[in-house]
Amino acid sequence: MLPKFQSKAFLAPMAGLSDPALRLLCKELGAGLVVTEFKSIHAVTAKQKDITKFIEFSPKERPLSVQLFGSDLTKLKQAVKIVEPHFDIIDYNMGCPSPHITQQMACSALLREPELTRKILRTMVQSTKKPISLKIRAGVTSSDKWKEIALIAEEEGVQMITLHPRTVKQGYSGKSDWKLIKELKQLVKIPVVGNGDIETPEDAKRMLDETGCDYVMIGRAAAKNPFIFQQINHFLETGKYREVSDKRRIHAFFKYLDYTKNYPTIKFANIRMQAMNFTKGMVGGKIIRGRLLHVKTIENIKALMEDMLTPEK
Ligand SMILES: Cc1cc2nc3c(=O)[nH]c(=O)nc-3n(C[C@H](O)[C@H](O)[C@H](O)COP(=O)(O)O)c2cc1C
Repeated sequence: MLPKFQSKAFLAPMAGLSDPALRLLCKELGAGLVVTEFKSIHAVTAKQKDITKFIEFSPKERPLSVQLFGSDLTKLKQAVKIVEPHFDIIDYNMGCPSPHITQQMACSALLREPELTRKILRTMVQSTKKPISLKIRAGVTSSDKWKEIALIAEEEGVQMITLHPRTVKQGYSGKSDWKLIKELKQLVKIPVVGNGDIETPEDAKRMLDETGCDYVMIGRAAAKNPFIFQQINHFLETGKYREVSDKRRIHAFFKYLDYTKNYPTIKFANIRMQAMNFTKGMVGGKIIRGRLLHVKTIENIKALMEDMLTPEK
């Protein structure tokens, strides 16, 4: 059974961004569910003995979902059993468009392989008592039968589906087509998570209202402004929310930085990327992002972000 979610707004899995420190911050700021970056079933089985060092997390993130990819059924079964004791939901990635991954018949390449998908999802569901969820795009091209995949998922016992309604060919261009989220919601009985281009609390409410989806998932906007979860929760409850000042966002970044100390897997380049994201839309942010490109240490990042608090210096 799915756990109970305290909010309708979830943090999206994002390789290089949804690290355990950002997830914890988003959780504290009201995210109903957080999902790890995607993990290869081959890496998970190779790191079996040290799995909690390979996929770091804090119990404070719960409910916590781990995302897997890869289509070798034997490895998949092993990987599910390895992650099962540590996570509340096991999510399967069928959305990543990167060619170096799809060439291995993984992620979005499976959107054209309904029968293999059936075997994969059946293997996962039968290998664990934990709920399995699925994250998809709207086909490789718009003629693909992603809806067939959604129905297969439901038949095989998947308990929740997230749709990012862009095709693989679209990449991140254009706008995600929220009408397809509505179509998915009308097609299946299991909970549907709508994802794509939510930038504000108003967007989140509009997606819920227009599509009837059960939950919304936020990716890039949360990496800029983790307060978005607090804002959405407040907006859904009261119709109002507080704007977040640049100063509060920078202090939230310092908290993020503090949390990273507990997680050796978070790389310097990723922390720098987070700093860049946090400064998006801030007064003076562009200049700081230019400087961030050249820094070499966490102390340098911190000093630059402190400069943002006292721009007259
Ligand atoms: C840097 C980056 C990394 C991502 N990594 C993953 C991933 O590991 N697994 C996944 O299912 N989706 C991944 N995505 C896709 C997001 O989860 C989400 O579907 C997409 O960004 C659309 O949502 P948004 O408009 O709210 O950002 C990634 C997106 C970005 C920008």
